[in-house]
Amino acid sequence: MQNKLINLKKFGYLKLENIDLDILGVIEKKITNAFYEAIKLSINKDLSREKFNHFIKKKERGSLDLDCIKESEELSKELISKLEIIDLAKEYWNCNKIKYSSSLSKFRYVDPNDISQIKYSPLHKDGDFFENKESINICVPFTGYGGEYPGLQIFPLTDNKLKKKLIQKSSRFKFINLFLNSERPIVERGSYICFNQDIFHRRTIDSSNKIRINLEFRIFPNHINNPDLNLKDI
Ligand SMILES: [Fe+2]
Repeated sequence: MQNKLINLKKFGYLKLENIDLDILGVIEKKITNAFYEAIKLSINKDLSREKFNHFIKKKERGSLDLDCIKESEELSKELISKLEIIDLAKEYWNCNKIKYSSSLSKFRYVDPNDISQIKYSPLHKDGDFFENKESINICVPFTGYGGEYPGLQIFPLTDNKLKKKLIQKSSRFKFINLFLNSERPIVERGSYICFNQDIFHRRTIDSSNKIRINLEFRIFPNHINNPDLNLKDI
């Protein structure tokens, strides 16, 4: 655990394992069905199910809210609360309780054959979207992540000032990637990745040919009080 904490502090990014596969399987089934239903509604341009409308209106993002169907939020919370990252995060932030953002946590569906989704992969850090400087995004694949599934290119934190600048230019000048230590993790079902709000990342399609479905769950230390984040205890 000590090494993992050191790496989290140094790189802002970790790959971990040991997910409860029983709970994962239950959520996977429900969420896969929810996405199939959302796709059907989207084909018919049917906006009658309010919880699915974000998926239908912004298909490039491929996201459904954490509470999009019955029990999806409770089950996700149960799944995440058992993960090692929760104890690591308590040490990382020196706090005794962890909260999660119900509005910033999402289920994600990425089809490598959908042009709009392929184009939607801007380089960013999550800290650009909310003010807080202490957060961790936990990405749990129901399928897989990377390799034959769409994944992420991740730029672990670096102290090197030149590299920091180059990361931000890597979208326009692809060759710069050669000089940076980025990772394209292959995450099997049962493993997960975590990164903080300062980590630059982008969606990757590469040679993937399978649909990726995953959970993105955002946690915060107990001392954060920002009403915009809809924080709840885990
Ligand atoms: Fe992101």
